[in-house]
Amino acid sequence: MEKYIVNGGKKLSGRVRVHGAKNAVLPIMAASILSGDKCRVFDCPKLSDVKNTMKILERLGCEVILSDDILEIDSQGIKAWEISEELMREMRSSIIFLGALVSKMGRARLCAPGGCELGNRPIDLHLKALKQLGIEIREENGFIEATAERMHPADIHLDFPSVGATENIILASVCIRGETTVSNAAKEPEITDMCDFLNKMGADIEGAGTEFIRIKGVPHLHGAQHKVVPDRIVAATLMCSAMTTKSEIELLNVRSEHLGAIVSVLRDCGAKIEFFRDKMYIRAPEKIKSTDMIKTQVYPGFPTDAQSPVMAALCFSQGTSVIVENIFESRYKIIPELSKMGADILQDGRVAVIKGSSLCGAHVRAMDLRGGAALTVAALGADGQSEISGVHYIERGYVQLDNMLREIGADIKSI
Ligand code: UD1
Repeated sequence: MEKYIVNGGKKLSGRVRVHGAKNAVLPIMAASILSGDKCRVFDCPKLSDVKNTMKILERLGCEVILSDDILEIDSQGIKAWEISEELMREMRSSIIFLGALVSKMGRARLCAPGGCELGNRPIDLHLKALKQLGIEIREENGFIEATAERMHPADIHLDFPSVGATENIILASVCIRGETTVSNAAKEPEITDMCDFLNKMGADIEGAGTEFIRIKGVPHLHGAQHKVVPDRIVAATLMCSAMTTKSEIELLNVRSEHLGAIVSVLRDCGAKIEFFRDKMYIRAPEKIKSTDMIKTQVYPGFPTDAQSPVMAALCFSQGTSVIVENIFESRYKIIPELSKMGADILQDGRVAVIKGSSLCGAHVRAMDLRGGAALTVAALGADGQSEISGVHYIERGYVQLDNMLREIGADIKSI
């Protein structure tokens, strides 16, 4: 699929199911190699990032099958510890294989990871923490080689609660004899989901979802089954689609406790939002109100991944809103694209000031995953036709976003 063609202005209605979270399933796939056994993952989203991670697992010697949304990983045959440059460059999250491979194979060799270009995305926190566990790390010509002859537990304090670094520490330390602790750990629900999976595999991890995590090393792990947590960013994207089209929709498979910051902002904008068990009902206002300053923060603060879709929704508001992007400095690549649709957005460094009105259809280009989804959200509410290229970015994190939106009445097709 190369492009989305969207005829804007159609109301959405009905229900749509939110699929499993990309940011949970990827570390879960890396964690599965620690079992040296068969694992089964339910509600696995068929995303390009998942397919790339499957390739990594296969090259390491695992057998991997994804049918419908059930992923089966058999890591009994794992024999390699290297990940090729070509696979590493595909996505940044592959860096979590560093901790998993060192733990399982005693060594790892991989190159600095790729992914969406969201500005400087260093891995210094990962490397500093892994060194504290006694892992020797050499960096040469863009490659990282890690060996684990003298691994030991440690009390690690993260200078910043990085999601990936927290996951890497857990994956590396889960079988180290003794107790490892992580303070100032990231609290994202996807980390908790990975830890739930590891605990089902026989790990002993406490405190996931809090800033202090305790990992008691166990001698070995075994296979397990797990259902992936719903994707809160997909839910946020669909909520923003309801906003730009002034619609009422119902989302299935959501966790209200994971959506607090997004719900709070959209309620300020005038949305009516209610939860009933794992369902959410959202009714957008006729006129979106502008909001106080939105600052992206680590969880449970406002997620950087939902910033672009919310920016798209604010383009339709009455009044002026301010966003401060504190996590990734290059999240504003969509501003020139939204401007092509008539948006009035001023950016100065990490601050964006959005003067709301309405948008009109245009030819725009997705340049990263969430930005691409946000352009789709904008196009749904715009007058006339939009053409969105760079859909392969969107496919990294949304399973057929066009189908999901068509199911609830959007006029969108891919060509
Ligand atoms: C994960 C998510 C991504 C999300 C991000 C923040 C996955 C697969 N991806 O990415 O969708 O946008 O969390 O919620 O789960 N940093 C350093 N040094 C490091 C590591 C990070 O300076 O060693 C900085 C980054 O540049 C960034 C901030 O910390 O400014 C957050 O990064 P991090 O939490 O590590 O995000 P990711 O794990 O890459």
